[in-house]
Amino acid sequence: MSRNIYSEPALYDAVNWWKNNDVAFITGLADEINGSVLELAAGTGRLGLEIMAKGHSYLGVDSSQEYVDFANQKIQSKGYSGKVVLGDMRNFSLGKKFDFIFIGFNSFFHLLNNKEAFQCLESVFDHLSDGGKFLIDLFIPDPSFLYKDDTKLYHVTNFTWPEDGLKGMVKERNHYEAETQINHIYWYFYKTGIDEASLFEFDMHMIFPDTMDRLLCDAGFTILNKYGDHDKSPFNEESDYQIYVCEK
Ligand SMILES: C[S@@+](CC[C@H](N)C(=O)[O-])C[C@H]1O[C@@H](n2cnc3c(N)ncnc32)[C@H](O)[C@@H]1O
Repeated sequence: MSRNIYSEPALYDAVNWWKNNDVAFITGLADEINGSVLELAAGTGRLGLEIMAKGHSYLGVDSSQEYVDFANQKIQSKGYSGKVVLGDMRNFSLGKKFDFIFIGFNSFFHLLNNKEAFQCLESVFDHLSDGGKFLIDLFIPDPSFLYKDDTKLYHVTNFTWPEDGLKGMVKERNHYEAETQINHIYWYFYKTGIDEASLFEFDMHMIFPDTMDRLLCDAGFTILNKYGDHDKSPFNEESDYQIYVCEK
């Protein structure tokens, strides 16, 4: 039976120990805008804590109760006044507008078709203040990754299991359905000394840059910048990322 990575927040943090290439970019944007911040799919507070450390007013929304509780414990232990609330980025109503709204670390790919993606953008539009900025940060789906041999396991990362400090490793295989543009991902978590791996499955809807441009424009956004990396290099055909900064 497979486990759900989005109900095991300590394990998520342990496996994503390496992810920090977006922190300076996103906190820098928060500093520039210097207003209220809303993060959708806020997770365990990885980016939210960095934003609050810079003194900004922060609200996160996430659909996992376990992640919301875990993030709020971290926020309280630091004494910050922000919080993460339970919600669905496809349709939310927070009763106020924000100066900076963002969806980081590929989370927009969890909206599994263009209708859900568009619904989310409509909700973002309603919550963005006039003159406010909206950021989406995604990798560019790479055919050589999507169409790998789906019977083989590929190394993802090494990590330390949070509950006992034993060494672990993640390997993955995937199966991409071109018709739905859904990438089914199977992560196998190994632990030193234990033969059998734990299986985590999740799906990602691969959105290519031309579709992303169209979705944003149809939802009423103007794309101010389209970067190809977190160092703000311009987007081009060799970019690994599609990073959009938009306004209404
Ligand atoms: C890749 S994690 C990113 C977490 C965090 N933003 C970060 O940068 O570390 C994706 C997050 O999306 C959340 N999520 C997935 N679908 C969602 C939805 N429809 N609404 C809100 N959150 C969602 C998951 O619970 C998970 O916390």
